[in-house]
Amino acid sequence: MSEKRNQVELSTISSKFTEETLRNIFATVCNETDVKVSDWDFGTASAKGDSYLSVVNRVTVNGFAKGKPVKVDLVIKSLPKTLGRRKTYRSTVFFRNEIAFYTKVVPKFEQFLKSKNQAHLLCVPRHLGSLADGENDYLVLENVCTLGFGPVTRHNFISMEDCIGILETFATFHAISFAYKDQHKEEFTKCVSHLEETYFTPKYWDWYEKFHQRLVNIATDALTIEYPNHEALKRFTSYKFGSLFDMCCEICGRTDAPTSVVSQGDSWAPNIFVRTIEGNKREALMLDFQLAHCVSPVLDLSFFIYSCTDKALRERFNDMLKIYHNKLCSIITSLGSDAKKLYPWETFMKEAKEQFFYGIVFALEALPIAMLDESEAFDLDELIKGDEAVNINDIWTLPKLETQQKRLRVADIIVHAVENGFL
Ligand SMILES: Nc1ncnc2c1ncn2[C@@H]1O[C@H](COP(=O)(O)OP(=O)(O)O)[C@@H](O)[C@H]1O
Ligand SMILES: [Mg+2]
Repeated sequence: MSEKRNQVELSTISSKFTEETLRNIFATVCNETDVKVSDWDFGTASAKGDSYLSVVNRVTVNGFAKGKPVKVDLVIKSLPKTLGRRKTYRSTVFFRNEIAFYTKVVPKFEQFLKSKNQAHLLCVPRHLGSLADGENDYLVLENVCTLGFGPVTRHNFISMEDCIGILETFATFHAISFAYKDQHKEEFTKCVSHLEETYFTPKYWDWYEKFHQRLVNIATDALTIEYPNHEALKRFTSYKFGSLFDMCCEICGRTDAPTSVVSQGDSWAPNIFVRTIEGNKREALMLDFQLAHCVSPVLDLSFFIYSCTDKALRERFNDMLKIYHNKLCSIITSLGSDAKKLYPWETFMKEAKEQFFYGIVFALEALPIAMLDESEAFDLDELIKGDEAVNINDIWTLPKLETQQKRLRVADIIVHAVENGFL
């Protein structure tokens, strides 16, 4: 590959992404100052519909550290090229937040865990470099596929094995916040102050309103066809338009609550990778912290369960909550804090009753998008040509759900939430 072509490719990531950037990454990975980058190769681009808020490139870099050949596999997220697309999807807000997570929160968590000899508990990709100036933003992570991690599934439901692995990973991640906050309250408060609410805040209602109306209509239609006489239809349609969004804003605004923890924020299947360890046991890793925020742990849990499990798996809903809570308590304990005091089962259940509806509201958006066939996925570069923001409702023109299977996927979670007193 010619040097010239290499250079052109790097600048397509960001005009601030240079060979020097790669050399620094190499030095970090190899923990060595004597490094030389020889060439790099862009892997296949992500499928249309895999990522709407950012451009994701997989890049393999070859070079030398102290004269020895080295190969490094990276995933590099960068801003969409067109201004219209950036503005329409508020890309720079999401980049700023994810980079704040990796540069302000993760180092503090790492330091805390190291002091406890538990560095392995942090299940996120290694951060290797980033820039957030609102124009040339990029985020470089290690490609975790090289560690044996891979996608759970995009369209289908997950297995109980995956489900347990994922619940335990969320529990472990949330437990770090509980213990760190308990033992270093001021530092915790300081580091989470860099995170911002990127979705459920009144300031984004104008951005979301029309699209939210579309999503509510899709769900109402699914319920009307599949459960015309069920209490769930009555309950769901009894909410005044906008009040579900307001309720989400209210719970997402509780950043100072004693039980608020750093939450992944977008906890559905595409943002979770798994690998198999001993036998059939799964270990999960979290990706994509663009929506990270400081809220009740119930929010990650509810969105995960409602967007990734099917009705049959939800027969074991109570087991899921127990698996999550047991793991959370055991990790809090292993980090030297009193789990019974910080998040007893009763407090957890009270928050679940009160906040599980969040998973429904967020899944109203995630499910219709996840259920699109690849041919139906939206090509944002085709749809947004100009420099100005477009209403997302004119881009994500999701149709009503045309098969019973798709309608049930949405309707069943609402029925579940109503039957459990969450809605
Ligand atoms: N560190 C990583 N290692 C391997 N694959 C990754 C990594 N980060 C992201 N990916 C892949 O790229 C996809 C999009 O990345 P993500 O961070 O979720 O971007 P977006 O914010 O646009 O959704 C993920 O679903 C995953 O398949
Ligand atoms: Mg993602």
